[in-house]
Amino acid sequence: MKFLITGGAGFIGSHLTDALLERGDSVVIVDNLETGSAKNLAGVIDHPNLEFVTGSILDAELMDSLVGRVDHVLHLAAALGVFNIVNKPLESLVTNIRGTEVVLEAVAKHKKPMLLTSTSEIYGKNSSGPLNEESDRIVGSPLKSRWSYSEAKAIDESFAYFSAQEHGFPIRIVRLFNTVGPRQVGHYGMVVPRFVAAALAGEPLMVYGTGAQSRCFCHVADAVAGILNVIDSEAAIGEVFNVGNNKEMTIAQLAQAVIHETGSTSKIEYMEYEKAYGKGFEDMERRVPDISKMERVLAWTPKRSLAEIIGDIATEMGKGA
Ligand SMILES: NC(=O)c1ccc[n+]([C@@H]2O[C@H](COP(=O)([O-])OP(=O)(O)OC[C@H]3O[C@@H](n4cnc5c(N)ncnc54)[C@H](O)[C@@H]3O)[C@@H](O)[C@H]2O)c1
Repeated sequence: MKFLITGGAGFIGSHLTDALLERGDSVVIVDNLETGSAKNLAGVIDHPNLEFVTGSILDAELMDSLVGRVDHVLHLAAALGVFNIVNKPLESLVTNIRGTEVVLEAVAKHKKPMLLTSTSEIYGKNSSGPLNEESDRIVGSPLKSRWSYSEAKAIDESFAYFSAQEHGFPIRIVRLFNTVGPRQVGHYGMVVPRFVAAALAGEPLMVYGTGAQSRCFCHVADAVAGILNVIDSEAAIGEVFNVGNNKEMTIAQLAQAVIHETGSTSKIEYMEYEKAYGKGFEDMERRVPDISKMERVLAWTPKRSLAEIIGDIATEMGKGA
């Protein structure tokens, strides 16, 4: 099979590329290297079954030609990271809405199967407990840039779902919850690499807010295994799946675990949300996935522990990668 991965030079896209090449598939990547990096593909860049195209999903002509010559489209390219979304709200909206529309137009024309990587952010600040695929979205004002990523990704899902119905191509959607591991960068607001980098440098781990907010963290290798199960399954066509780890912890507990696992002498410090992200920033108390649909339909369950996640990130950072 030949796959087109939009955003394939990014954190998750590059791991997905590795996994597809490893099992004998061919991959064409399109990425504008906005948050991704050629470094993420260093191990495979000379692979005979990999083609890397520097370009944007906003380029309709390019997308039409790329989609036309592959068997399956995996659409991961997006503007993301809290700092990115808050600091560049308009550009992020255009990438996430118009970009997906351009990809979908090409997919509809060529009638190729497509996977859309959506996000747990679509549930917004619904903190009611394990969220299943039917859980409500609860979002704040559309004028708060914080929610524009949630809005854009939700529109992407609707766009993809109804476009598939109308134009008759197979669509699969995954809602990724916090996904972490090597190659993820901390400077866009991702908490685990930020904490690990601080712990390794002996600097304070800065917790935003009270630290009582809880999250779950899934190793990227588990998430990629889940995505492969989805794209390989006929039963997944026209369906949406939560993909994440359901082991819940507070951000303060995460900071303690990072210090423990890295053997660091760093201290934990706290900073108000508004200082970190700007005035009016809102966050959710809890974000836990119900992953029973992935377990039931696709026999997938995350396997890697938080200690493995922290260890893998610390090893990579220790190598200066
Ligand atoms: N990492 C997570 O925890 C997480 C959680 C939920 C959903 N997701 C989704 O997974 C996907 C991949 O995210 P990631 O964590 O690997 O982030 P990432 O930033 O590493 O990957 C996104 C990639 O898209 C590329 N890109 C951005 N704009 C582009 C454009 N106009 N044209 C072409 N390429 C462009 C970037 O350069 C980058 O390589 C995204 O769709 C994201 O919404 C990620």
